[in-house]
Parts: sequence; structure tokens; C-alpha cells
Amino acid sequence: MQTQRKSLNKIVSMLALAMLLSASLDVAALAQAKKEKSLYQRLGGYDAIAAVVDDFIGRLVGDPRFEKFFTGFSLDSKKRIRQHLVDQLCLATGGPCVYLGREMKPTHQGLGITEDDWTAAVKHLSDSLDKFKVPKKEKGEVLTLVSTLKKDIVEK
Ligand code: HEM
Repeated sequence: MQTQRKSLNKIVSMLALAMLLSASLDVAALAQAKKEKSLYQRLGGYDAIAAVVDDFIGRLVGDPRFEKFFTGFSLDSKKRIRQHLVDQLCLATGGPCVYLGREMKPTHQGLGITEDDWTAAVKHLSDSLDKFKVPKKEKGEVLTLVSTLKKDIVEK
């Protein structure tokens, strides 16, 4: 009887320890999840991303270098490209968006986009990120994400 009670006590304390351990693991996982916000969240979410994209497009449209690329597009087509850009950035940064646009390579193939066009476009994006005071770390992460697309966009 004494031995039975002893082993029961042992099981109960082991169970209690296991529960305590798993509870503290949950707390640790929660703390970790709280600490590691997605880039999307750190940028300020959808509206912040849309504001950066709108400013970026404004800079592209205002730069004579890009005029030849966007002539002949209806207002509606321009709105579609804008929405694709917002969705693409939202998704790439870990946001809850779906990108329904085309792949980057076929979209830009044949436009003859040069290295200099690319550099000028990235400078505009960088200026837009600065305008909204996106911190250095997040700005770097956005530019790194965008740089992965270069090989599919630049032809010359
Ligand atoms: C900064 C990196 C860039 C990103 C992330 C990007 C992204 C996109 C996206 C998402 C679309 C819409 C795709 C669709 O219609 O399904 C698009 C279209 C387009 N992009 Fe880019 N782009 C970039 C750079 C450039 C540059 C540097 C140029 C020109 C110099 C350019 C010219 C165009 C044009 C003309 C279209 C419309 C193509 C068409 O509908 O026929 N893009 N881009």
C-alpha cells in the first residue's frame, strides 16, 4: 500500500512537472512569436505598404526616363498594375494578400529594361521608403526582396 502510494505520488509529480514544462514552453513560443513580427507588420501593414507603392508609382510616372514604358496604358490598366504591385509586396513581406498578377519574367520580357532603368527605379523606391521614414533594417529587407526580381526584369 505504502509503495503504491509512493509510485502514485511519483506519477503525479512527473505529470505536474510535464504540465509546467509545456506551459512554460508555450509562454516561450508566444514570446518568440510576439518578438518576431513579420516584415509586413513591421512596415505598418497594408495601408503603409499601399502608401509606399503609390508614392513609388508617382515618382516613376514623374520621371521622363519611364515615360516610354507606361504610355498607352488606360487608367484602369494602370490601376491594375498598381494593385498587383501592392499585392506582390504585401505577400512577399508576409502579409495576408494574394498575388494574382503575372510572373515577373514574361511581364517584363521585351520591354528592354536596362541596368540603368533598374538602378533609377530602385532609387525611387528607396526615396519612397525614406519619405515614410521606414527604418534602416526594414528598408534593407524590402530592397533585398526587390533585388531578387532583378534577374527577371532587366534584359540589357
Ligand atoms: C522595382 C521592381 C519592379 C517590380 C516589383 C515590378 C512589378 C511589376 C508588376 C507586379 C507588374 C504587373 C504584372 C501584371 O500585370 O500581371 C508590372 C508591370 C509592368 N512593369 Fe514592372 N516591376 C518592377 C520594375 C519595373 C521597371 C524598372 C520597369 C521599367 C523600366 C517596369 C515596367 C513595367 C511595365 C511596362 C509593366 C506593364 C506590363 C504590361 O502590362 O504589359 N517594371 N511590374
